[in-house]
Amino acid sequence: MSDAVLSQFKQEEVKEEIKTPDKKIKVGIIGTGGISNGHLRAYLKQNDIEIIAACDIIPGKAKARMEQYGLSNVRCYENHKEMLDSEPELDVVSVCTYNTQHAPCAIDALEHGLNVLLEKPFTVTLEEAIEVMKAEKRTGKFVSVGFQPRFDKNMQMIKKIVESGTLGEIYYIQTGGGRRRGIPGGTFITKHEGGIGALGDIGCYSLDMVMNAIGHPKPLTVSGYTSDFFGTRPEGYHYDYALAKKFEVDDFAAGFIRLEGGIILDFRISWAMHADTPGDTIIFGKEGALRIPSTDCWNGSVGGEMTLYHDVCGKQTETKIPLCEESDLWYQKIRYFLDAAKENGKAPVPTSEIIYNQAILSGIVKSAELGREIEIEIPEI
Ligand SMILES: NC(=O)c1ccc[n+]([C@@H]2O[C@H](COP(=O)([O-])OP(=O)(O)OC[C@H]3O[C@@H](n4cnc5c(N)ncnc54)[C@H](O)[C@@H]3O)[C@@H](O)[C@H]2O)c1
Repeated sequence: MSDAVLSQFKQEEVKEEIKTPDKKIKVGIIGTGGISNGHLRAYLKQNDIEIIAACDIIPGKAKARMEQYGLSNVRCYENHKEMLDSEPELDVVSVCTYNTQHAPCAIDALEHGLNVLLEKPFTVTLEEAIEVMKAEKRTGKFVSVGFQPRFDKNMQMIKKIVESGTLGEIYYIQTGGGRRRGIPGGTFITKHEGGIGALGDIGCYSLDMVMNAIGHPKPLTVSGYTSDFFGTRPEGYHYDYALAKKFEVDDFAAGFIRLEGGIILDFRISWAMHADTPGDTIIFGKEGALRIPSTDCWNGSVGGEMTLYHDVCGKQTETKIPLCEESDLWYQKIRYFLDAAKENGKAPVPTSEIIYNQAILSGIVKSAELGREIEIEIPEI
C-alpha cells in the first residue's frame, strides 16, 4: 500500500458521541427492497438499537416491510431527505438502495450528522465515491461499506497467509467469479438504477477479497472489457423476453490491472457464460502460491478448501487449508458498524480501502468504452 497516496484518505479518529451514552442507538433504513431484509434481521438481533424510521420511494413499501417484522411503530417516508429532516434523533442509517442512489443517500445522511452503513458496491462511478469521501471529511462522520465477507474467517485466512510471508512477494493475481446462468432482474439491470451490472454486483467482492489480502496497493492502469451477450438475449433469461428488453448493463467484464509494487491483477466476472466458472482465484508469490476455489454462484465466499503450493527443502509441496466454520456474517456486519458508531468512529470497512476497488470498477467501464488502456487517477479528497 502506498502510504503517501492512502494517507490523504485517512479519516481522523473521532470519538463518536451517541447523543445520550446509555440510550439505544436510533436506526433508520433507506430503501426497503430485498437486501433490507438482511439488515433488519441483523439489527433485530442487537439489544442496543431501536429502528425508528424507514423510507422507500415506492409508496407503501417501507410501511409494508416494517410490518413484516412487527415494526408498525416505525415512522415511514417516501423520500430519504424528508426522513432525514424529520428524524433528528437518528444516530445511524443503513443505505439499502440500488447502486445509483448510494452516493446521494450516503452524502445526505452524512450531512445530517449520521454514520452510514452503505451497501456494496461503494458507488457506480469513481467521481461519486470521491464525493462521498469529501462529505465524510466535511462532516467527521463515516461510511462503512457493506462487504460482509470481510467477517468470514476464510477471507481473513487469505489475508493472514499473505501477511505471514509464506507466499513471498506477490507478483500476479487472477481473480473473479461467475455463474453459468445467474442474471438478476429488477433494479440490477437498468442504467438509471443498477448503473453497472455483474461488475458492481459481484465483481466488487472478488476485488475486495484480493485487494484486502494484499493491503490495498494503488491501481495504476487498467485495460477493461465489458459485454452483454446474455442479458440482452432471451436465452440469458430462460426466455423471459421482457427482462432481456430491459437489460442495459454488463453481464460479463474483464480487466487487466497494474497495481503499485509491480503486481498484475487479472480479473473477470460473469453473471452468465457457457462455462461453470471463469476460474479460481490464484495468488502467485515468489515463494508460494495460493488457490482459492470459486463457487458455482459467486457471492464473495470461499468455495472449498484452499491449496497452498510451496517448496519444502526443495520438494514441491501442497498444503490444504481446511475451510473455517461459518459464522453469522450479517450479525457481525451490523455489530461492528454499531460498535464503531458508538465507540471509536472508525468504520469497519472504510471508504479509504474501498476507493481503489471503485477506481478499478470505474476504470474497467471507461477503458471498455474507449477501447484502450487508461491510467487511473484519484483526485485529492
Ligand atoms: N451485501 C449483500 O449481500 C447484498 C446482496 C444483495 C444486494 N446488495 C446490494 O443492496 C442494494 C439493494 O439491493 P436490493 O436487492 O435490495 O434492491 P431492490 O431494488 O430490491 O431494493 C432497493 C430499494 O431502494 C429503493 N430506493 C431507491 N432509491 C431510494 C431513495 N433515494 N430513497 C429511498 N428508497 C430508495 C427502491 O425503491 C427499492 O425498493 C444494491 O446496491 C445491491 O448491490 C447487497
